[in-house]
Amino acid sequence: MAIIAGDLIARRSVEVLKQGQSASGAFVASPAFPVYRYAWLRDGAFCAYALDRCDELDSAAAFHAWVARSIEAHRPMIEQAIARIDAGDPPLPEQMPPARYTLEGSLETTEDEPWPNFQVDGYGMWLWSLAEHLGGPIVGELRETAELVARYVRATWPMKSFSCWEEFDGGEHASTLGAAVAGLDAAASLLDDSEWSDAARVVRERLLARFVREGRLARGPDDARVDGSLLWLGVPFRVLPLGDPLLEATVDAVRRDLHRPGGGVYRYRGDTYYGGGEWILLACSLAWHELSRGNAEAAQPIREWVRAQAHGNGDLPEQVSDHAQTPGMIAPWVARWGPAATPLLWSHAMYLIMESVA
Ligand code: BGC
Repeated sequence: MAIIAGDLIARRSVEVLKQGQSASGAFVASPAFPVYRYAWLRDGAFCAYALDRCDELDSAAAFHAWVARSIEAHRPMIEQAIARIDAGDPPLPEQMPPARYTLEGSLETTEDEPWPNFQVDGYGMWLWSLAEHLGGPIVGELRETAELVARYVRATWPMKSFSCWEEFDGGEHASTLGAAVAGLDAAASLLDDSEWSDAARVVRERLLARFVREGRLARGPDDARVDGSLLWLGVPFRVLPLGDPLLEATVDAVRRDLHRPGGGVYRYRGDTYYGGGEWILLACSLAWHELSRGNAEAAQPIREWVRAQAHGNGDLPEQVSDHAQTPGMIAPWVARWGPAATPLLWSHAMYLIMESVA
């Protein structure tokens, strides 16, 4: 793809993604941050999409094959969760299928800190990413896995779960429902069956009925703040079409409340993780939205800011703390887990996606 040729950060981004892909096909979240030595479905879905856009189709295919193997290895657990939810006796959150697998596709070991693994959004994001990769209905073996994941998303989206930021915060999250919409719409195309677009419509209706505050979407039904992850409700989740007044009012609120002028994008007001700094992948998400709307001028300073955050070798971190919301919370996190994750594969994926639409 043309963007790679003259752009050191884009070249390095492809390298970071490919080097961070294990022989199994899994993408490690960050190779240099011990807590992130796992493969998240959420991060991986965006890594595969980015590589598709850079014509690295084999890498994306290897990821999807790894997801399918990992899911099939846990089919009994997933089938059981669906059956128990249908019977009105849902498993405990810690008994649900995980948000992250080991690079070999197993559940994490119990010596690790307990992780808030019940996150539905990654499963929806995987279906979205797979549909983008295949560009039409599945012929062949991935079909059964996609159908299982679609049934899992349809069963779990109404439940309280952890957010894309792995926080509970009331348990209901607009971006989780957005990922469910994207995943179920993707299932309709992958399985060539409108049953799944009907299921997506129900989620979309719930989102629009419960999450609108002050004329725009809010991060939770009882939390009127915006969240950077609301940006994805336009691109790539297509919960609302670009230009829709509700979506644009939501993005306006993100610009006003979370985008530091001349800088990046915060996850949400009150974030304390590593002080609550500006996230590279959210800055890229805002630029992605602007570019998709034809606002190249608005995207330009964001692209420049992102580039300026790259380390000398082109590595992009998860977040930067120079303008942290709660500076006093940087040191405690550094003491607990080490310096903020760098390079973060998802940051690099979003950089490539942003540059591929520019
Ligand atoms: C983020 C998640 C991400 C994970 C791995 C967490 O800190 O909140 O969104 O999936 O790191 O990158």
